[in-house]
Amino acid sequence: MTTEFPKNFLWGGATAANQIEGAWDVDGKGVSVQDLLTGGTVDKPRHFTAKVDPDAYYPSHTASDFYHHYKEDIKLLAEMGFKVYRLSINWTRIFPNGDDEKPNQAGIDFYHKVFQECHKYGIEPLVTISHYEVPYHLTAAYGGFSSRKVIDFFENYCRVLFESYKDEVHLWLTFNEINTALMFGGGYIQAGVPVKDGSSIFDRVTKEQRQNAFQAVHNQLVASAKAVKLAHEINPENKVGCMIAGSEVYPLTPDPKDVLLAQQQTEMNNFYCGDVHVRGAYPAFAKKYWRDNDIHLEIDPSDAKTLKDGTVDFYSFSYYSSGAVTIHPEKQEKVNGNMSSGTKNPYLKYSDWGWSMDPEGLRIYLNQVYQRYQIPLMIVENGLGAYDKVEADGSINDDYRIDYLRGHVEAMKEALDDGVDLIGYTPWGCIDLASASTGQMSKRYGFIYVNRHDDQTGDYSRTPKKSFYWYKKVIESNGKEVE
Ligand code: BG6
Repeated sequence: MTTEFPKNFLWGGATAANQIEGAWDVDGKGVSVQDLLTGGTVDKPRHFTAKVDPDAYYPSHTASDFYHHYKEDIKLLAEMGFKVYRLSINWTRIFPNGDDEKPNQAGIDFYHKVFQECHKYGIEPLVTISHYEVPYHLTAAYGGFSSRKVIDFFENYCRVLFESYKDEVHLWLTFNEINTALMFGGGYIQAGVPVKDGSSIFDRVTKEQRQNAFQAVHNQLVASAKAVKLAHEINPENKVGCMIAGSEVYPLTPDPKDVLLAQQQTEMNNFYCGDVHVRGAYPAFAKKYWRDNDIHLEIDPSDAKTLKDGTVDFYSFSYYSSGAVTIHPEKQEKVNGNMSSGTKNPYLKYSDWGWSMDPEGLRIYLNQVYQRYQIPLMIVENGLGAYDKVEADGSINDDYRIDYLRGHVEAMKEALDDGVDLIGYTPWGCIDLASASTGQMSKRYGFIYVNRHDDQTGDYSRTPKKSFYWYKKVIESNGKEVE
């Protein structure tokens, strides 16, 4: 294989405000949907409380305290040689309630400082506009994105961002993992759709919640298209991408029924939203899906044009693992992991949280998506959530993480050789942060260890792990040295 990574390949890492910043109620910040989700574990899922319970623990309230450590953190990212840093803006720092007349200047100023710090080291910020952080007031007062009114609030928020950061940010993503609203939690985390007080994020979704979640995703797709158009109008240099939770689903057996099932699940997962973002229209299978599942979308006559006028400049996605399906229960061994319960693939190894590790799946995914869309692709999340041990001498030897990442970097190289136009890679949780699905600090992804624990002890000090030095070499050699 002769292919090398392109000269300007965007090596970096990714985080999200609610999982890293902490400082949940300072400098005028409002309450987001995350700020009402308690901590959990694999066996005891996070749950939603309509009010903050003083006896409960909410990971987003403290997280990794990036709010007070951003200078130190960005300096460490620069030491690794980052070209790009993907982070999200906490919507409630800018508009505490979401529908406020005026933005909160202190929130705008905080991100100016963060972006200036990035530029000091030549790091390009890649900003997610909404990463599981919808203002809770929009949920309580309007039903989150299931209401069309929220499209206008989102557009207004985008305008403030594009104008305020015109000189500092040129790479944007609209909604993080937009398709996850259809997968779990009834769309609460992703789209701010209301759920019952006390319910867990993995409770079975009711028919009504499912309907609301589909409507919310449609409204978000419209909101995203409007944002893309606005971003280009405000600064033609802006490039805007979508962000899909990517996954390959394999048939467990060659039974054509298994193959069909796997194909249907893969397409629904990867292309239902992807097609609207990239092609400006729903895929052909959507109508049948709505019919079969009794979903009735309110689509405004103007939406078709809005969607066509607001297609994205690049396609970004997260990729952690793959799944398998079968109609043959006798052949099935189950995985009982966090978000990954289902059929076990006997050819793959699984993480401590039951997520499969499958670098070839990434190559398959990249090829499949690129052949369909033929626009630049970017992997904006990938990584291994694992328990890390601090040795007596203070070192953290995370060889398991290096192995996982090496496999995926090699798969990226193969995909480039296949002809895929891959422009960047930002592994997830480059600085340890709170897990989105379990809320645990102990599910660590970082190159940088944060001394903070599930029992809320720890002084937030930062320590580079072994993977920090490994990734630095990967970046320095532009992907040539991965050993
Ligand atoms: C993605 C999200 O689903 O996966 C992140 O965009 C999340 O917010 C990441 O943290 C890893 O998942 P988890 O549950 O291990 O934190």
